[in-house]
Order: sequence, then C-alpha cells, then structure tokens
Amino acid sequence: GSAPAATIVIFGATGDLTRRLLVPALANLVRDDLIKAEKFAILGVSFEEGDDASLRHLLAEFCTDCGDVWDRLQSRIFYLKGDFTEGSTYEAVKAKLGEIGFANAGFYLAVAPTFFGTIAEKLGATGLLDETETAFRRVCIEKPFGHDLQSAQALNAKLLEVMDERQVYRIDHFLGKETVQNIMTTRFANNLLEAVWNHRYIDHIQITAAETVGVEKRGKYYDATGAMRDMVPNHLFQLLAAVGMEPPNSFGAEAVRTEKSKVIEAIRPVKPGEIASFSARGRYAEGEVDGQGVAAYADEPNVDPDGSTETYVALKLFVDNWRWAGVPFYLRTGKRLTARDTEIVIAFKPAPYAMFQSTDAQRLPPNTMVIQIQPDEGVGLSLSAKKPGPRISIVPVNLDFTYAEEFKVGRSTGYETLLYDMLIGDQTLFQRADMIESGWAAVQPFIDAWSKGGRVETYEAGSAGPIGAERLIGNDGRFWHRIG
Ligand code: BG6
Repeated sequence: GSAPAATIVIFGATGDLTRRLLVPALANLVRDDLIKAEKFAILGVSFEEGDDASLRHLLAEFCTDCGDVWDRLQSRIFYLKGDFTEGSTYEAVKAKLGEIGFANAGFYLAVAPTFFGTIAEKLGATGLLDETETAFRRVCIEKPFGHDLQSAQALNAKLLEVMDERQVYRIDHFLGKETVQNIMTTRFANNLLEAVWNHRYIDHIQITAAETVGVEKRGKYYDATGAMRDMVPNHLFQLLAAVGMEPPNSFGAEAVRTEKSKVIEAIRPVKPGEIASFSARGRYAEGEVDGQGVAAYADEPNVDPDGSTETYVALKLFVDNWRWAGVPFYLRTGKRLTARDTEIVIAFKPAPYAMFQSTDAQRLPPNTMVIQIQPDEGVGLSLSAKKPGPRISIVPVNLDFTYAEEFKVGRSTGYETLLYDMLIGDQTLFQRADMIESGWAAVQPFIDAWSKGGRVETYEAGSAGPIGAERLIGNDGRFWHRIG
C-alpha cells in the first residue's frame, strides 16, 4: 500500500545526490502510487540562496522523464535556506514542518559526512527527533559512515545519544539493487542450492565490482578515501553477507540483519605478516577505456599526484564459521577497468572422481554459478556436458537467466525501495550499527598497514587491474573470472 503521510526533509537539497537520485526516485514512487502526492512533501534545506520556485526549477532538470508526475510533485516541494551548524535553522525547520502539517518526518542527510554528527545533534536538541504514538521521526544517513573503525564507533555513539537505533536508516545503496535483494531469495527459496552452499562443495567465492569510470569530479573526496574505504566495508561486504549468511528465522529486519552481521563479524582479521599475501592495491595509469583515451589518476583534478591512494583493491578473506571453514573469499574492486561488471562467482569443487577415459577429475571444468548484479542482472550456471561425437570430450555449457528477459521491469534508480522502506519503517535494507563496525574492523588491519607506506602498483586504464591481483589468486592455483 501507499506510504503514510510524511514530510521528507533533505539536508543538501541542491546537491547531486538529491537531484540525480533522490527526487527522481521519489517521483517514481509517486508514479507507482506508493506515495500519494497530496500526502507528501519535500522540504529542502541548503546553504544556498533560493526559494521554493528556484528549488523546483533546479530539481526539474533531472526529472525530465517524470512527465505528469512532476506536475503533481513539484507543488509539494519547499525550500529553506539555512546553515547546518546553527540552531536557528532547526527552529525554522520545525516551524515549516508545522505549516506543512504532517506529523511524520524523515530527515535525509545528503550532505558531506563532516555534518552527520552535527545535524543529528541539532535535530535532537530542537526536539525534532521526539516521536509520539502517531508521529515517526527517522534519519537517513548516506555513506561514508566513518573513515575507520574508531570514527564509525564515535559517529554511532553520537547518533544513539539523540535517537534510538530503530530511528536510524544507514544507507548502502547496493542494498537497493534488485539482484542484491534477490540473492537471499535465490538461496533460501531453492533447496537445490542451499544443499551445496557450504565448504564441502564450494571451492571459493569471488566478489567483483569493476567500474569503467574514473574518479569523475570527486577527486577531493576520493583522494582522501581510496577504493578500500569507498567500496569494501560497505558495498562488497553487503554482497559477502548476502551470499554467506545463515538462513534467518524470518524475513524481518532484525532477523535478517542479525544473520548478516554475524557473517561480517566472522571475517578473520588478517595478521600483520599476511597483509602482502592477502591483498593487492593499485592505481590507474593512462590508457583507453571504451575506445577513449583517459588520463592517469595522478592527473585527475584535486588529487595528490604523489600520494598513495589506491583506485583498485583485491583481498583474500576467510569467514571463520562452520559453513565457510577454509573457503577463500576473493574480493576486488577498481576504477577504470576493462568493463563495468558487478558479480559474485561461486566456484564449486570439481567432481570427486572422473570415470571418463583419459580425463581426471581435476581437469573437468568445475561448476560455477555467476550472480550478475550489473550491468545486466541475472544468474548463470555452468555445467559440464559431452560434446557430440564418438569420443568423450567434456566441455562447459551454460544455463542462464536474465531479469530483463524474464520480467518487465520499470525504470528505477535503486533508491525507490530504500525511501519507501524508510517511510513504512522497514529497516531490513539498512545497515545496523554493529554491521558497520564489524565491517570496519575487518578492513582496519589493511588500512593501518598501508598508512605506514608500501608499494601501490600501477595498472593501465582499461586493463583488468594490477599484476599483484593476479598473483594474489594465482598463488592459490585459481583464476579470476573474466571481467565483462
Ligand atoms: C559509491 C562510490 O558508493 O558507489 C563510488 O562512492 C562508486 O565511487 C559507486 O562509483 C558505485 O555504485 P554503482 O551503483 O554505480 O555500482
């Protein structure tokens, strides 16, 4: 059904996230009747000079596909110029919420992370987070959530001083992706899979998030962040949790999040002496991507050319629990790679014995299951088959299914589910404090070691990444699945 009447207050209303993703997603929700325009309002808050008309005009630019939905939505958009660090801004928000008239409010922090703590604190001090039986008050926080374990713990502590965990909606936009949500269904609705989903049948798992884009206009943010912090403890660990979790008792938010949290918590902390053999990092040199010449990372705007920020990272991790004992999880992510490709590969163990002439089991192509998340969502399974002919020759064949062919799916930004779930109070697809902290704890030893120096390899833009990543998996006698 449609969401309850509410105002969404967006801090950072004139920024990129609001324009490109949040407002188009809200418009799609109105289109699908999941939000009723007359029971909804957006109150944008930002430092910039402006009024309702100027904000509507600015937001319309990215709502070109919105059609008549925009006519219904735009009159529900209001603007408030204000400094996030000043109490008077929050008094003004309070007054404006009163004027709009809905008791429920969701506060969306689409701002630089330095403001997360301040905004939460001021919302609390103004009484804007006080809930009643008939009024919810919720806060959505974008990533990056902290810069390391310590800062994430400090931020969680600060938030929880002014609100309850059930009011906090920590966004990881990967959780808004349809296929990511589907991993759980694929696993737990198919007994066939669950029976072999463990260390007895699975040799290893690969999780890849390859991008063709460079740092774009985000040099300042990215140079202070790097591929590890930008992608691993959040997005890649969410994928790891989805493939690795135990079946939850229900699909309820706490049941699901508890199981995910347990997997992340079980990631074995790497020992200082293992850093080099368990990781690889690199940064892109100039090269060619999609037939276009592109600059080296060092020549991108707003980055330190002599710094050591990585744009690629590969890791080998172990999940120390019953199901995954001894199964390596290889993770990799990087910018300016050969293709855009987000996928999970489940590599099964070879058959135990081959009775075919002149073949031994080790040479049979092992079964692999590929869960494709981007760009074309789907699932593929490779099996071995006999090539027609008098001799026995065994080759891999594929069973494939794509979401696009199977279902007619409408346009979506990925934020629709997240915004709708926040409005209806379902926290399943949001990060809980303990998940975030366990994620940071698992990557902290790498970050600490790298901060003391060491070599960052270079890789050519448009390649599959640095040589060290090939070595990382090659030393174990395994290979990366081809990107793209
Ligand atoms: C963001 C990162 O969280 O995720 C970006 O900050 C990255 O650097 C992006 O490009 C990837 O998301 P998607 O949805 O394009 O795979």
